[in-house]
Amino acid sequence: MAYAAFRSIGAYIPSKILSNEELSKMVDTSDEWITKRTGIKERHIAASDEFTSDMGAKAAKLALQRSGIDKSKIDMIICATISPDYFCMPSTATIISTKLGLKNITAFDISAACTGFVYILSIAKAFIEAGMKKNVLIIGAEKLSAITDYSDRGTCILFGDGAGAAVISATDNKEEAIIDIHTGADGSFADLLMTPNGGSGSAHDSLEQEASSCFMQMKGNETFKIAVKTLTKDVIEILSDNNIQSSDIKHFVPHQANLRIIKAVGDALKLKDEQIVLTVEKYGNTSGASIPMAINDIYESGKLHAGELMLLDAFGGGLTWGSALVPFSPLK
Ligand code: UT7
Repeated sequence: MAYAAFRSIGAYIPSKILSNEELSKMVDTSDEWITKRTGIKERHIAASDEFTSDMGAKAAKLALQRSGIDKSKIDMIICATISPDYFCMPSTATIISTKLGLKNITAFDISAACTGFVYILSIAKAFIEAGMKKNVLIIGAEKLSAITDYSDRGTCILFGDGAGAAVISATDNKEEAIIDIHTGADGSFADLLMTPNGGSGSAHDSLEQEASSCFMQMKGNETFKIAVKTLTKDVIEILSDNNIQSSDIKHFVPHQANLRIIKAVGDALKLKDEQIVLTVEKYGNTSGASIPMAINDIYESGKLHAGELMLLDAFGGGLTWGSALVPFSPLK
């Protein structure tokens, strides 16, 4: 049987920074409020002519280069995004495949909001274990600034842009393999986090309505409470299902939505500060890109080494959630 190994990581972070101070000139908020309630100090914003696919392709190139696997060997690209270049086609994954110079491969997007990266990791694992694909490029890429309402202080302080990518490959060596992935969803909470207009579920009677059609809306406090409860239950379950102690986790890499959510889950697992990967302060919430951007951060700062076990967890619109136990397994 083939197993799936997490070979490499890459990310792209746009250069423009939007600070809390700048946001407090745009809406009724303050650096103090944002820092205390979210842990976010700044977020990066893509240029107007920089698309989700541009960021995704840059992250993917880095992940490919670091994997040591020739790009001609990639047989599938999956992109997790809620801010695709185009609504609804072509998929951002197909645009990225062209930007990477890849043809005749499987390419598609999935929509699982902030849980997107855990979902695409599970899809890559399943295709590889079924023997259908050998080398899968997975990409979380978001230009959330394009779907953010900068007059809504409840959401605009949270989100940023960026991309992260990983190469997942077939291996015979079980020691290198992704151990387990949990994914879940509950559509009865769909209204907590949504872009209510712009799809077939909304009626447009004026062009004006369409202009702001894709802005995100969130019931923040309700989402917060469910996030803490669901994530805590999910990470405890995945550890116990696999007979792994929280002390065995070298890097806990949560979706970076809110420092208070991350701390609450970390406390429930009795994790030490040095086990918890935090990027929320500098990147804010980049939805499907946040986990691979955070993994890239520890990789580039020399903290991620071969064989070390990562616990990923995420929660987002849908509602969706997921967790994964992933050893970092670069090719020697
Ligand atoms: O990534 C996908 C999943 N997303 C999440 O998990 C996000 C979950 N939610 C959150 O992170 C938090 O709920 C927020 C950061 C969005 C909000 O924090 P909160 O502690 O839940 O605040 P709240 O919504 O309960 O609002 C408390 C107060 C309200 O004022 P009153 O009614 O007490 O007078 C809000 O109007 O804070 C006010 N408020 C703000 N004040 C200053 C809300 N947003 C702001 C703001 N600046 N930006």
